[in-house]
Amino acid sequence: ELELHPPAMPWSHNGIFSSIDHKSARRGYQVYKQVCAACHSMNYMYYRKLVGELLTEDEAKAEAAEVQVVDGPDEEGNMFERPGKLSDPFPQPYANDEAAKAANNGALPPDLSFITLARHGGEDYIFSLLTGYCDPPAGIEVREELHFNPYFPGGAIGMAKALYNEILEYEDGTPATASQMAKDVSTFLKFAGEPEYDTRKRMALKMFMIFGILIPVAYYIKRHKWSALK
Ligand code: HEM
Repeated sequence: ELELHPPAMPWSHNGIFSSIDHKSARRGYQVYKQVCAACHSMNYMYYRKLVGELLTEDEAKAEAAEVQVVDGPDEEGNMFERPGKLSDPFPQPYANDEAAKAANNGALPPDLSFITLARHGGEDYIFSLLTGYCDPPAGIEVREELHFNPYFPGGAIGMAKALYNEILEYEDGTPATASQMAKDVSTFLKFAGEPEYDTRKRMALKMFMIFGILIPVAYYIKRHKWSALK
């Protein structure tokens, strides 16, 4: 069976005191929007989740407003379109799974909302998958509509290589190499799947600090109270 294990990358959020790199995740949102969103949905990702994390409130409102959302029924019972709001999820590229498969040679692009949790290897896997496209080794044949990628289980994936150097221009001026975009979009997908990541780490740190004091104190009091019974 052909399958490479993705190497562990030195993500800047790896350390016990490190948060998600929000600038990278912000760039990653741009990559998702301009590249991945053509085929992938993120049905559980709402524009409001970007506020104060990757975008300002005004920026997030502007992003949402670019999308036409079907709403209703109104007083007459009709559905209507309106610009998106912060409370809307990201738009879907296809009407349903059948349309998605029809557009992708039968392969269904999975929803990316929780993909770093849903795939073994998490963000390491996503990065390796996006940058891992290459020619198949001698003797391996890949069906016409599939693409060789040693990180995908089985080695033949229905998704073509999506990231090439400078297919987009980053608004912050970072050179948009394929590997930079893969890193940024992986960081964005990590953030999307675990928007509470930073808070959770901070809580854990506080917990260790508080228990670090409370446990020795409790232990001392216990010894002190029972010392008369020795
Ligand atoms: C599958 C990510 C762009 C079509 C996948 C998978 C991931 C992914 C993580 C799942 C692989 C697995 O099941 O383990 C991304 C990212 C993109 C991107 C981060 C942007 C940088 C695209 C684009 C298209 C596309 C532009 C369409 C032209 C597909 C399809 C599959 C897939 C059809 C299913 C493949 C299969 O099951 O064989 N993608 N993708 N993706 N993607 Fe993408």
